[in-house]
This record gives sequence, structure tokens and C-alpha cells, in this order.
Amino acid sequence: MSNVIYVLNGPNLNLLGKRQPEIYGYETLADVQLKLETKAAQSGLTIEFFQSNHEGAIIDKIHEARDKANGIIINPAAFTHTSVAILDALNAFESPVVEVHISNVHKRESFRHHSYVSLRADGVIAGLGTFGYVAALDYFINLS
Ligand code: DQA
Repeated sequence: MSNVIYVLNGPNLNLLGKRQPEIYGYETLADVQLKLETKAAQSGLTIEFFQSNHEGAIIDKIHEARDKANGIIINPAAFTHTSVAILDALNAFESPVVEVHISNVHKRESFRHHSYVSLRADGVIAGLGTFGYVAALDYFINLS
């Protein structure tokens, strides 16, 4: 295992760029993936980029990361606010975890103010748009 960062995305993020662009912007998840892969390659890191609308699939990917990744960047999307199971999976992962939200969840509905994942995350980035993923990757580049 060397210098692999898992970038995990939760439900509805496959619609990024089309879904509520006034909140999430016009960039697609494929744009974000390309940007991260390019930046990672320049810094000797490898990205494993993944999106699922299914909680169990995200949990399986976190389990896989236990043996394969040096870090996780995760935007759990709506599962942020509901999933004890994702929190438990992340608690079984021993390297750093950065939680990313494209929007500033604290400026939005009160149900978005609580994050189960934040109980585990080493850092949380919210409200910087898709640049939040780049900032999270920078954190890992800095560690490597
Ligand atoms: C989100 C914020 C969540 O509250 C929401 O359910 C999402 C996306 C964000 O990136 O801003 O789907 O995680």
C-alpha cells in the first residue's frame, strides 16, 4: 500500500452539475475526478474515485480501503446526517479521513448541521464548492 487516497461520494452526487446547480455548481463529478487524478499524479499519489447511491456499497469501499488506502476523502452526501453504519466503517479505518461538503451545510436546513461522519473525520471542509476536494487532496499531499 503506497500513497493511495480513496475519494468516496455518496448519493445523488452522480448528478453533480445538473442537480441544484445554484447550490452545487455546474462542474460534474467526472470533472472533479479528472482534476484530482491530475493533481494526485503530479504529486506521486494515486486516487481511487468512487460514487454510489447505496449505503452498503460505500461501506464495502471503506472496508476495502482498510488494506489499500493511506487516506479517505469522503463526501457522504445525505448519509452524512443519517448513517451510523458509515461512521462505524470509518472508525475501523486507521489512516486519516477528511470529510468534504460542496455546500456550507451550516448555512442550510438544521438537519444538515449534524454529521455522524464528523465524529471520526480528522478534518472537515464545507462550503468551498468542488474546490473542497482539491483542498482535501492538498492535505494528503502535504502529509506524503
Ligand atoms: C452535501 C450536503 C448534504 O447535506 C447533501 O445531502 C448532499 C451534498 C454537499 O456536498 O454539500 O447531497 O454533502
